[in-house]
Amino acid sequence: MNAFKTLDDASLSARRVLVRVDLNVPMEGGAVSDDTRIRAVVPTIREIADKGGRVVLLAHFGRPKDGPEAKFSLAQIVAPLAERVGRPVAFAADCIGPVAADAVAALKDGDILLLENTRFHKGEEKNDPAFVEALAALGDVYVNDAFATAHRAHASTEGLAHRLPAYAGRCMQGEIEALEKALGSPERPVLAVVGGAKVSSKIDLLENLVGKVDILVIGGG
Ligand code: 3PG
Repeated sequence: MNAFKTLDDASLSARRVLVRVDLNVPMEGGAVSDDTRIRAVVPTIREIADKGGRVVLLAHFGRPKDGPEAKFSLAQIVAPLAERVGRPVAFAADCIGPVAADAVAALKDGDILLLENTRFHKGEEKNDPAFVEALAALGDVYVNDAFATAHRAHASTEGLAHRLPAYAGRCMQGEIEALEKALGSPERPVLAVVGGAKVSSKIDLLENLVGKVDILVIGGG
């Protein structure tokens, strides 16, 4: 049995389900150049919608420093997301307040809504309790499927989990189960290959891995 709750434990029908996903995908010439992260969260989105949940997606995009900026708007991810999910995806131009509340109120069971970049509000990265409350007001249940952002203790990744009944999405669940299999009590020798561009944000992870694996290969950077 898992030490964490999954979608199997959640009651989703007719509930407003706040789903934190990682849609921080690379873009080239206005198009998504690698859709791995979008495809990773499709099963969770479809499952919640199929179970009659009202899917409200929360995500960040890039690192905006001072409020809304067109180049960091999640509006540009709506079409590629809808295409991968194979269903319509609505969009709200803010992730809190009346704009978001009206968009959530308009949802029917099984509908999908993407809210604007959570990082357009300073409270996101500060994990500000007032911002957490404003997000929590939009949902009944919280699902975290943003494995690639799970190292950030932000309002939409950490704060909300304390405020609403919280569950891991299928992407998060799969990643945690794979890690447990590889690092829990694995057959040795264990070789870890760590890639990705932002090595600086992986230092803690690498230090942790050094004590657990026999060989560590670092790529990307
Ligand atoms: C990533 O791209 O590494 C994650 O989406 C987290 O983004 P961040 O490094 O800007 O917090």
